[in-house]
Amino acid sequence: MSETILIVGSGAREHAIAATLARSSSQPKLACFSGARNPGIATLCSEYGIGNIANPAEVAAFAGERHATMAVIGPEAPLAAGVADALWAAKVPVIGPTQSLARIESSKGFARELLAKHKISGNPFFQRFASLDGLDEVFARYPNRHVIKDDGLAGGKGVKVCGDHLLSLEDSLAFCRELVAHGHSFVVEEKVEGEEFSLMSFCDGKTLQHMPAVQDHKRAYEGDKGPNTGGMGTYTASDHKLPFLENADIAAAQQINEQVASALAMECGAPYKGILYGGFMATCDGVKLIEYNARFGDPESLNLLPLLETDFVEICRAIVDTTLADCVVSFSPKASVCKYVVPEGYPDNPRKGDAVLLPAELPQGVTMYLSAVDVKDGQLIATGSRTLAVVGMAATITDAEALCERVVCQIPGPFFHRADIGTRPSIARRVEHMKAVRPA
Ligand code: AMP
Ligand code: GLY
Repeated sequence: MSETILIVGSGAREHAIAATLARSSSQPKLACFSGARNPGIATLCSEYGIGNIANPAEVAAFAGERHATMAVIGPEAPLAAGVADALWAAKVPVIGPTQSLARIESSKGFARELLAKHKISGNPFFQRFASLDGLDEVFARYPNRHVIKDDGLAGGKGVKVCGDHLLSLEDSLAFCRELVAHGHSFVVEEKVEGEEFSLMSFCDGKTLQHMPAVQDHKRAYEGDKGPNTGGMGTYTASDHKLPFLENADIAAAQQINEQVASALAMECGAPYKGILYGGFMATCDGVKLIEYNARFGDPESLNLLPLLETDFVEICRAIVDTTLADCVVSFSPKASVCKYVVPEGYPDNPRKGDAVLLPAELPQGVTMYLSAVDVKDGQLIATGSRTLAVVGMAATITDAEALCERVVCQIPGPFFHRADIGTRPSIARRVEHMKAVRPA
């Protein structure tokens, strides 16, 4: 049977998903359904539908009309809305969990309570609240060391950290009052210290195949300054761990992902089929869980998908057929550095409508994924969010960074990127930080 694979979403992550499916030896037909037309994805797809990706019926109808044989869901909003449920009901197998299983991302309280209930390590102290009752005790226990999280999806705006966004107990109380006023429940947890890393696993509901560890850079400006963003760039190392991590940290994160997948199956009575993405912090007290995502990371997946050696369509089939245990998943032993080019003013007040001029040719070892861009009168223009991502791949992080930077710095116009990501001084700072947090 010839395969038609539907990709839901239209950012750089979905461009990378489409490009990786497109290099499968099975040469599947690709279709995309999203809120916007990404010209990079469009060149790889024979069908492109525009609509509301968080409307399960709309996505399922498009999949049915295009005779999709499988679907890959990129972003979190459709997962939280139950798009996977609607696709399975329409007999389209999905890479991406059903609504109930996606609570691992869509509810911070659910994720914390799942770990606690199933005695999985990695939780810092936490407490879930629906009102202000009992807050005083938690604030008295962790006056300057707490993090407050909106329980639900808040597009990166729902987390406030002591010393960062919360400079006094009054700030903390004000944020909690605001959440309660909006009828949101929230979690207050202990602020832990260390270096963050992402560990994603392919999961068929029974077996997990882990991907290399990645480090993201959430702050907008160099030196980890400025507002939080969706992620300005990421790197991986050729040995598939990160320079500041011990093998035991990777093993601990892998084990947490495995235990969470089984706990989810027990809790929801259904297998988790998709990508399980743990956001972890290596601390003086072992690996702590910061958050779970129910999808590929963006930018993390931009580093890893181009290094994937195994046929991606085969992995997707194995996920839906529960045969991942028989699949050898391998990534090329190379380092990678990904940097996003974003409009001036991003993330708070980004310019929109500026022309994006791409380099005529990319050097070997570099790939580019388009994100928030549109075509007007034959010209690529930026639409305000992260514009495009450039990934350099080489034997070392330093070489990958140099390759990536060579291309990124050629993109003219009112855009910026973080030149420091993946550089020697930036990595050394992270190694030093880890040494200070966790002396040998
Ligand atoms: P999240 O949306 O849960 O990833 O949180 C956004 C950011 O807040 C994370 O990337 C961390 O830098 C920070 N953060 C979240 N939870 C904690 C925690 N318990 N301790 C320290 N930092 C945290
Ligand atoms: N890189 C952060 C995320 O995908 O949520």
